Amino acid sequence: MKVIVTGASGGAGPGVVESLREKGWEVLPATRREADFRDLTAVERWLATLEGDAEAPFALVHLVGGFAPGSLEKTSPQLWESMLEVNLKTAFVATRALLPHFLQAKKGRIILVAAQSALRPRGGAIAYQTAKAALWSFAQHLAEEVRGKGVTVNVLAPAVIDTPANRQAMEPSPRWIQPRQMAEVIHWLLSPEAAVVHGALIPLEGPKAPKEYPAPALG
Ligand SMILES: NC(=O)c1ccc[n+]([C@@H]2O[C@H](COP(=O)([O-])OP(=O)(O)OC[C@H]3O[C@@H](n4cnc5c(N)ncnc54)[C@H](OP(=O)(O)O)[C@@H]3O)[C@@H](O)[C@H]2O)c1
Repeated sequence: MKVIVTGASGGAGPGVVESLREKGWEVLPATRREADFRDLTAVERWLATLEGDAEAPFALVHLVGGFAPGSLEKTSPQLWESMLEVNLKTAFVATRALLPHFLQAKKGRIILVAAQSALRPRGGAIAYQTAKAALWSFAQHLAEEVRGKGVTVNVLAPAVIDTPANRQAMEPSPRWIQPRQMAEVIHWLLSPEAAVVHGALIPLEGPKAPKEYPAPALG
């Protein structure tokens, strides 16, 4: 079945695409060449080029995102807007363009990608973290809108992913998540077995407990 993977040219994209293909999914990778995912008209135009295909897309895996650090004082209005655009608006545009197709088919899977650091706030990238937190909120509202209509909406919240950019910026750690491990979870969310998983936030963390995320106090 056809799966659209946006952000396919990013750090995690190639590993996710390759791994899903190995598992038998017909992946349609979407990069900026296909469409700017901030632009609904451009995305709809790209989707229209697929309409001759015998089979409509079954799923959206929206990997598009972007990171920039910065406390509030170091965040310009331009940086604020760009983080909201790349992390939140692109998800709105992608789902807005694809949802009518999924609803018409009465089946579809929407998988969005937030971030651990947005959900357990620790500061340092306020625009990015706010945008990813808002993405989770968006997903919960969307999940309610489509409940019972054959479409599921779920969100992955990775800690650090093993990407070339992260390897340049930091010492690699065994806690890092491999794109192929992300693909395993995505593969499961796309499977018939996961048809009942809806409105979930799925944390992806490495095998060791990250020191920077202490367990919350109980009680
Ligand atoms: N890397 C991590 O440690 C980490 C941790 C937590 C969450 N995440 C999230 O996981 C996802 C994948 O991460 P990643 O490291 O692979 O991200 P990435 O390397 O920054 O890649 C992002 C992708 O999005 C594309 N993109 C950005 N703006 C776009 C637009 N307007 N239209 C179309 N495509 C656009 C980029 O294309 P161009 O190359 O053309 O700009 C790139 O392919 C992202 O949502 C990220 O925020 C990542």
